[in-house]
Amino acid sequence: MKNKLNNLTNKEWLKFQKSWFIHNPPPRKKGVLVHPAKFPETMAQEFIEFFTKEGETVLDPMAGTGSTLVAALRAGRNSYGIELNPKYAKIAAKIIEDERKVLGEKVEGLTSKVINGDAANALDLGLATFDYVLTSPPYWNMLRAKGSENQQKRRDSAELDVHYSDDPNDLGNIEDYAKFLEGLIEIYKRLKSLLREKAYLTIIVKNVKKGGKIYPLAWDIARELGKTYTLKDEKIWLQDNQSLAPFGMGSAWVSNTFHHYCLQFRNE
Ligand SMILES: C[S@@+](CC[C@H](N)C(=O)[O-])C[C@H]1O[C@@H](n2cnc3c(N)ncnc32)[C@H](O)[C@@H]1O
Repeated sequence: MKNKLNNLTNKEWLKFQKSWFIHNPPPRKKGVLVHPAKFPETMAQEFIEFFTKEGETVLDPMAGTGSTLVAALRAGRNSYGIELNPKYAKIAAKIIEDERKVLGEKVEGLTSKVINGDAANALDLGLATFDYVLTSPPYWNMLRAKGSENQQKRRDSAELDVHYSDDPNDLGNIEDYAKFLEGLIEIYKRLKSLLREKAYLTIIVKNVKKGGKIYPLAWDIARELGKTYTLKDEKIWLQDNQSLAPFGMGSAWVSNTFHHYCLQFRNE
């Protein structure tokens, strides 16, 4: 097989083609615990290794504490991240620096750059073209909702953030769902001119529950962004190590939602 997309063997390629996977995040390192919602580098690496070749360049426009960039380094890819919150951008830069020390010579020629800024201004940052975008947005303003046990534990700790920031440009601070969705889609749409022709964009996201109903964030992104990129597929990320909570028990159906959608779009 002539492989134009990545450096995987046929067997590795086939394995990734399954439409669902279980990935239980390994325990987080101390520095990144402060961030309320990151995805695991180990999972990001699998996506990067499927959707790019070694030496290509990945962008995460909402980079948080830099999971995509760390994964890209480990996979031998260049990477750029944009992150609004200066605290997270600083943590990301430090984590990348540490990772570079661990990986040593083999990553010497690779670029990994975190830019502290607003993803809405991505086109003004003088960035070149990317071969892949891997990202995860704020799940609307859910971090501000009275929430899960996990949030409660974080609230009790002075060191851990329970929401990303108070910055008005932080999408996680937009109260109105329609406005939030519009702002988010606009950011993703603008990235089109930075994405190479035929390159992929993966968005990791959940539908969100609020006030006793579902706001289908993943499905809304799929529908709206499918007008700009080709919506190719979904891959379902299952977490199988979470504690079940008795939400609604005895009176109403409320699921314990332990799955995320990894939405695949292509610039074509
Ligand atoms: C779900 S988190 C991303 C976590 C990241 N994937 C990781 O693993 O660390 C979403 C991030 O988007 C950032 N954010 C929110 N609005 C933004 C904006 N307008 N521009 C750039 N980043 C933004 C938040 O500060 C938050 O870190």
